[in-house]
Amino acid sequence: MLNQKIKQQAKEVFDEVLAFRRHLHAHPELSFHEHETSAFVAAQLNAWNIPFEKMADTGIVAIIKGDKPSDKVIALRADMDALPIHEANDIAYKSVNKGVMHACGHDVHTASLLGTTKILNQLKSVFSGTIKLIFQPAEERLPGGASLMIKDGVLDNPKPSAIFGQHVMPLIEVGKVGFRSGKYMASTDEIYVTVKGKGGHGAQPQQNIDPVVIAAHIIIALQQIVSRVADPKIPSVLSLGKVIANGATNVIPDEVLMEGTFRTFDEDWRAIAHEKMKKMAEGIADSMGGVCEFNIVRGYPFLVNEPLLTQRARAYAEEFLGVENVVDLDMWLAGEDFAYYSQVADACFYRLGTRNEALGITSPVHTPTFNIDEDALKISSGLMTYLALKELGN
Ligand code: NI
Repeated sequence: MLNQKIKQQAKEVFDEVLAFRRHLHAHPELSFHEHETSAFVAAQLNAWNIPFEKMADTGIVAIIKGDKPSDKVIALRADMDALPIHEANDIAYKSVNKGVMHACGHDVHTASLLGTTKILNQLKSVFSGTIKLIFQPAEERLPGGASLMIKDGVLDNPKPSAIFGQHVMPLIEVGKVGFRSGKYMASTDEIYVTVKGKGGHGAQPQQNIDPVVIAAHIIIALQQIVSRVADPKIPSVLSLGKVIANGATNVIPDEVLMEGTFRTFDEDWRAIAHEKMKKMAEGIADSMGGVCEFNIVRGYPFLVNEPLLTQRARAYAEEFLGVENVVDLDMWLAGEDFAYYSQVADACFYRLGTRNEALGITSPVHTPTFNIDEDALKISSGLMTYLALKELGN
């Protein structure tokens, strides 16, 4: 009954959601600069007479309350920012902002949540409970728009009992969605290392302190943190993707610069690992007569999908889309600032399939040729509405 009503509404708003998505795709804005996007969302909310509040500069939180009595509250979240990538797709709604592109599908998330907003508003008379609709800025850049929205009180007054986030996934076929209970995405920290020695002629090692050899020892030794110190039940990864020793065949440089990433799924272990890596790198440099400056820039925490909420959501999705259209997700060691919500509230972050091999739509997110099969928009707004209303007890 509810299922059919939502499907009917989703059909009716599809053309509008498609137009929203194409407009947003053509007009992408970088993290913390989502002014036009925010104004676009606000304009729709105003047109539909839905009250909202601004937060974290460009963020928006709208509220819709069902006519039937209930104290239950849940939240739905979309992110709005784009990436510094020059779009290579040859499409009618190609980005008009040079060097900026919705290459992570946040245009899809925002358009879909607007669709959900419209459907909820039209079904107000038939459901109970309150829905907070969160349009947040800056998922792609530290400190993450989610952390700022939380600071500004997005999860207070009223406090939601659960929050859902939806994200495109070009690995999953269009028409399907994916769920994972428990730990899903990793904490992400950036590592910046400077190894200082004393440069000189490559023929006179006795007069130099070779930072290249020190750095080499540090690179190998740091892998022991992941392979010998980490609990093997907690996935961890340490990758040093940038190593610069700018000497020459016969020149030892004064210093070596390295950058990398450390990712894991446990806040206690994360703190211990930071300390151990720093101590090890500094100790090795010291023992070899050099100095190591080891800096860590903390990124997002790990993302955990509350198991009971996620089990329920998965079952609701099966009801709405059919058992054959709901798949299980693997852990993924990328980061996502929805993790901040998941650290303070019961959260469920699920994936919307957007892949269509027959149409050649297979590019990964964060690439200049990323795009979606827009048929995904036929289910994105309706499914989120269904999850919300079921979770509110309808
Ligand atoms: Ni994203």
